[in-house]
This record gives sequence, structure tokens and C-alpha cells, in this order.
Amino acid sequence: MSTGHFDHAAASWDDNPTRRAMSAAIAAAIDTRVPMTPAWTALEYGCGTATLGFLLADRLRSVVAADISAGMLDQVRQKAAAGGVRNLQPRLLDLTQGAPAGETFDFIFSAMTLHHVDNTAALIASFARLLAPGGWLALADLCAEDGSFHPDTVVPHHGFDPAALGRQLAVAGLRTVAWRPVHELERHGRRYPVFLLTANHAFSG
Ligand SMILES: C[S@@+](CC[C@H](N)C(=O)[O-])C[C@H]1O[C@@H](n2cnc3c(N)ncnc32)[C@H](O)[C@@H]1O
Repeated sequence: MSTGHFDHAAASWDDNPTRRAMSAAIAAAIDTRVPMTPAWTALEYGCGTATLGFLLADRLRSVVAADISAGMLDQVRQKAAAGGVRNLQPRLLDLTQGAPAGETFDFIFSAMTLHHVDNTAALIASFARLLAPGGWLALADLCAEDGSFHPDTVVPHHGFDPAALGRQLAVAGLRTVAWRPVHELERHGRRYPVFLLTANHAFSG
């Protein structure tokens, strides 16, 4: 995937109050669903400017904020420096190409990225590989829509049926704990529900 669109959008990404409201709603939902502890290491995948990661960082030991857009990661670097946030580090990473060896995370979270990823099976396999035993995964994305959410750009997925996504996670050995709508985005006079799906390794307690 070309990163040009997101590189270009990065500098003004956080100016959009709709995005800030969505991140706040997802962070609040994660807070009630995922038993985060200050000992946990976390990965935010497809972080953009890491709006969500910055909201959760003080609940966690560390957050790697990963994206394929260097422009987005520049914004993350600037925000961390400006806010004195030391436990959130940007990283250029494409997990559809495989997971880095020798690294695990207690918590992986991702918002509004999955629908931009063609090979979701490869990405989910990397998530499963990177999750520590007992680790948690939280995925927020659009519920299945008719394509009208992105009228001017081609994306590989028009949202997801969370139950079907859960079956895809099961192929990678992950068990869905719960999913539910946590927010609605308004665009072009229409409303688009956003779900949060939480999961962990099938053998976790
Ligand atoms: C719609 S934005 C969401 C950004 C952020 N999570 C948010 O909620 O504001 C999608 C992000 O996914 C990133 N992305 C797209 N494909 C990716 C991939 N294969 N791996 C990592 N990041 C990807 C884009 O660069 C962009 O930052």
C-alpha cells in the first residue's frame, strides 16, 4: 500500500474533532474491557498519530506505536517530545510481512487500520505470534458498510462483520472474548458504527 495519502494527512490529522472523539470512546471502551496493568508492554498497530496510544500510555509500562507511514510517525515523535511522554516510541513496521523475532507484547491494539490492510490473515497471524501468553488483543474498526465511507478512495475492506472477524482470529489461535459497538462516526450525513473486539490466545484462562 502507498503511504502517500497518510503521509500527507499526518500534520493535520489531530485537528479533526471527530477523530479525537472516536479515540476517546475507544480508549474508554478498552478501559472497561481489557485488564491493563502498569506492567504491560503494548503495541499500537496502524497508530497514525497514536491518539489512542497517548490516551492509554499512562496505564501501561510502554507502548510501541507502529505504522507504515513515516509522516504519521514524525507526528508521534513530535507529540511524545512535546508532552514529555517517554514510554511511547514510534516504529516503522509492516506486520503483513511477518512479525519481528524475539519480541512479544502483553497487549496489542489497533483502531481503524484493519480495513486498510489487504492481507488481514497475515496481519492477524503476526498479532497472534507477537502476543505474550495471556496477552490481549483489541481491534476497533468499522462495522460492515456499503463502501460509502470511503467514496473517493479504494480500500480493501468495507468494514467487517465482527463475528466473521472473530472466526478469522480463531484460525490464528485467538479466541474472541467480546465485541460490541462502541462509537458511531458521522460522515456525509450517514452514521457508521465502530466496533471494539477483544480477544486473547485460545489457551489463556
Ligand atoms: C485511518 S488511519 C487510522 C489511524 C489511527 N489508528 C487513528 O485511529 O487515528 C489508518 C492508519 O493505518 C496505517 N496503515 C495502513 N496500512 C498499514 C499496514 N499494512 N501496516 C501498518 N499501518 C498501516 C496508515 O498509515 C494510517 O496511519
